[in-house]
Formats: sequence, C-alpha cells, structure tokens
Amino acid sequence: MTEKFSFQLHARSGKARAGTIHTPRGEIRTPAFMPVGTAATVKAMLPGSVRQTGADILLGNTYHLMLRPTAERIDRLGGLHKFMNWERPILTDSGGFQVMSLSSLRKMSEDGVTFKSHIDGSKHHLTPERSMEIQRLLGSDIVMCFDECPALPAERDEIARSMRMSMRWAGRSREAFGDRPGHALFGIQQGGLDEQLRGESADALKAIGFEGYAVGGLAVGEGQKAMFEVLDFAPDQLPEDKPRYLMGVGKPDDIVGAVKRGIDMMDCVLPSRSGRTGQVFTRRGVVNIKNARHQDDPRPLDEACSCPACSNYSRAYLHHVFRSQEIISSMLLTWHNLHYFQEIMQQMRAAIAVDDFAGFERQFHAERALGDI
Ligand code: GUN
Ligand code: ZN
Repeated sequence: MTEKFSFQLHARSGKARAGTIHTPRGEIRTPAFMPVGTAATVKAMLPGSVRQTGADILLGNTYHLMLRPTAERIDRLGGLHKFMNWERPILTDSGGFQVMSLSSLRKMSEDGVTFKSHIDGSKHHLTPERSMEIQRLLGSDIVMCFDECPALPAERDEIARSMRMSMRWAGRSREAFGDRPGHALFGIQQGGLDEQLRGESADALKAIGFEGYAVGGLAVGEGQKAMFEVLDFAPDQLPEDKPRYLMGVGKPDDIVGAVKRGIDMMDCVLPSRSGRTGQVFTRRGVVNIKNARHQDDPRPLDEACSCPACSNYSRAYLHHVFRSQEIISSMLLTWHNLHYFQEIMQQMRAAIAVDDFAGFERQFHAERALGDI
C-alpha cells in the first residue's frame, strides 16, 4: 500500500500548533523551517550536514531548475532527490513568484506568464499545467499551485483582479496535478493586506480542496507590523486540520510571531544567504563577523550553540576566514545559522507540547534584549 500524505496535530498553545506531516519520504515536525535549496543545493552545505542541523524538508524552485539543468534532465537522472542526494521530503515553489523577481520581459496573461531567462535570455512560458508537469518531473513531495504574487503597494482593484486569477490558476493546478498518492498539492492564498480579499481567496481554495494551504503575498516589503496584522486573521480563514505555510519568511522574530499566530511551516533564504555575507543569527541577536571587534576574540560565536562553528572555532578565526574569503567561512556560518533557526523551531515545538508558548517567547525576547556578548 502506498503511504499517504497526512497531517496530525499534537498540541496547541494559544493559536500556536505542533504537529507532524507524514509523507512516504519521512516525517516533517511542525512548526517546520525549510532551508532553501534553489539550484538543487543548499549553498555551502552537504545534504547530510543540512539534516544534522535538524531540517526535515528542503525547498526547491521550479523556476531555477526548469532553466538549468531542466526538469526533463533531472527526471532522466532519477529525480531531484537522487540528483541532489537528499532522500527526505522536498517542497517546490511553482515558479511564478521567481519569474516576477528574477526574469526580464515578463508578459502575464490568463494563460500564464512568458519571460526571458535571467541566465541566458532564452524565452520560456509557464502555465499552471506546465508548472505541475515540471514539479512532477522533479519528483517534488509538496507541490505548490501556480500563482501570481502582486508587488505591494498596489490598488485594491489590482490586488483583487490578481487574486481572482490566482484562484482560477489554483483550480487549473488542482486539475493538472491529478491523483498522486503520497504527493501533496498546496493552495496559495493571496489578497494583499485586505481581510475581505484574503477571506474570498481562502473560500475559493477551500472549495477546490488542497492537502495544505499557504499564505502568499507577504514579506514583500510591507513590514513586520503589517504582516502580523494580516497573520492575525489569515491563518484562521484556512482549514484547521491542514498545514498552513507562510511563504518566504523570515527573520527569527518574524518566524516566532508567525508560529504564535497559527503558522506551521516557513521557508527563507536568510540563514543560508546571510551565512555567506558574514551575518550571523544568535540567541543574542545579529552579529556581523566582518567587524574588527572580533579579530582578537578567542570566544565562540555562541557558547551555548553545539554547531561545528561554535564547538570548534573562535570568533577570531571566523573573522579571519571571512575576511580572507575562504570557502570554509560560508560553510561554517551557514551551518551555524541553519542550526540556530532549527533550534528555535525545536524550542517552539517543545514549548507548544507543554502549552507554554508564552514562556518560550518571553525567554526568546529577553535573550535578544541583552545584545551580543
Ligand atoms: N514566495 C514568497 N511569497 C510567495 C507567493 O506569494 N507565491 C509563491 N508562489 N511563492 C512565494
Ligand atoms: Zn553555532
């Protein structure tokens, strides 16, 4: 019998939820943070190392992989999991969002979007049907609907028009996805910052029916306050018994605020990208390892962290290899950042299990208020 995709809630603390997503490729503990592996790699990390940080699932991108090395080639080579040597679950984004941020000469219509590759200028067409086909060729475990994420700020009419098209695309995505036991299709709520439009979008998605529901269209420059205001109502508009995924978020305090408001899954390039630019996230806030104040400091980044960067190296060393542009700098700082993000997720899951999310939150904010050592 094929193992099915399912979601089980174990505990709640306020609106925060802890649960498990079961897939044939393994379990995903929620709240979950998904490291981003855009080009079939989490940059500077071996898959085994990503797993050691505590990740249960990675995110991949339709847009990048369709352009290079192409979905058909990955399929011929046995699928994305085998190709990149990650056997656990993979969620893939559907492409439209990356088209808008990365490609040039975009042309949007009811059918889909035509664009020029940011790599070689070649012309491509993406539709809900083609996005579903690409994500199937990749072997993605959690497939995202093809949607449009309007740039904010925008007129309400424009946000409504875009959201309604995304909802028609959600219907076409569901149809094209077909019946694939063990694989899941997630809908994506749009509607900007408007409660009524978000409600209309949620109703449209629920009428189609999905294995999970994403909150899209946030973290696009509206700021944390506006994002939290939307998250005060958006998760409640989505089904209680299905995973809720906030796309593209975020900084540690965004993640904590999102979980507090009922979000189960998140992804962001921040911990991996920042690792390569010398920005480090710790319990005590953000540290820039480039700063000269670290050059004689024999102490670790965070004495309470058990990652390889903190267990084996001084701030002075991390500063030196960053300044020297040594490859190990990206490796160590990415490992630390991913470890820290996963540690927050683990602490939140544990706090929710004993109905003390508020206690976690108090300590999280108190440690940050102390500032770096
Ligand atoms: N990543 C961040 N936000 C979005 C969104 O609204 N839609 C999609 N497909 N991906 C995203
Ligand atoms: Zn560390």
